Amino acid sequence: MTDTLKKIQEVAQKDLENLRSLAELEIARVRHLGRSSELSQFLRTLKDKTEDQRRELGQLANNVRQELESAFSQLKERLDDVAYSALEKLDVTAPAGRPRHGHIHPLTQAQEDSNAIFASMGFRIVEGPEVETEWTNFDALNTPADHPARGMQDTFWLKGMQYVMRTHTSPMQVRFMQAHQPPYRIIVPGRVYRNEATDGTHEFQFHQIEGLMVARKGESAPSLANLKGVMEHFYQRFFRDEHIKIRFNASFFPFVEPGVEVYIQGSSGKLKGRWIEVAGAGMVHQNVFENVGYVRGEMQGFAFGMALERIAMLKYKIDDIRLFQGSDLRFLKQF
Ligand code: FA5
Repeated sequence: MTDTLKKIQEVAQKDLENLRSLAELEIARVRHLGRSSELSQFLRTLKDKTEDQRRELGQLANNVRQELESAFSQLKERLDDVAYSALEKLDVTAPAGRPRHGHIHPLTQAQEDSNAIFASMGFRIVEGPEVETEWTNFDALNTPADHPARGMQDTFWLKGMQYVMRTHTSPMQVRFMQAHQPPYRIIVPGRVYRNEATDGTHEFQFHQIEGLMVARKGESAPSLANLKGVMEHFYQRFFRDEHIKIRFNASFFPFVEPGVEVYIQGSSGKLKGRWIEVAGAGMVHQNVFENVGYVRGEMQGFAFGMALERIAMLKYKIDDIRLFQGSDLRFLKQF
């Protein structure tokens, strides 16, 4: 029996001589002193022995254990010292790595730029809820349930079918008009939702910037010509291109009359030499004024709505709208 103990001790001592690192030491410690070690197994066999043998062998085995434990802890101290002096070789005077700076998302940048431009033209920036009532999102905007224009803006309905994820920022026209008397000019930036398949130019959630300028009818009431002026100034500043030209194409939106699509052409990049559609707009429909409680025929104003992604893609030369929400750092780091 004592031969077994002697052997256990010799093997462990020999192992100890070859250990070079704290990691190796830990593995060896478990092997020689852990619960499955030969020494532990030996101790477990003692219960089958006579009391005398138990006392004698138990004593010997514990001595072996104590000696090994102390050898291990001495070696650990030495290896700790070695690890520490390796650390000391770190050159703390070497130049530091460059700290990594975060930056804002390109859409946020585009949003902030656009807010600043409209603010400089006297537009107040207001925000509205993303969950809208069916009435504000559609009916009050002259789009009743059986209107074909609803088909162009399929959306996500919430329980009970009375609430929708807003399909555009136009419902904020309704909310703002209900709570204010003209004159006013506002923009409404915010997220909108459409129930449609995504592709390079369509997302199921994106951002719009709504514009609304209304006054009592009269000489200074906002006109289609004023709308053109506001659009021209905005796009020239947003794209930093004073050669941007505006073109209105007749179009249909139930809440404006007349309705137009706004096209722009610039002098460089994606805007050079071709007309690109950037917004829907028009003169606010008298039905909408009536729906919010104004007297029919008393007010006049224009409204417009554009997708933030669309103008950001043109400005930053981005080919796929899905990159904005993709969280791919290779994309985001380029801004
Ligand atoms: C509207 O949403 C109207 N509310 C705009 C408006 C406001 C017209 C005020 C008149 C007066 P439309 O559905 O066309 O219109 O959307 C506006 C812009 O959003 C489009 O020009 C297009 O650039 C963009 N857009 C539409 N669907 C998507 C989509 N799925 N993903 C990304 N952009 C989209």
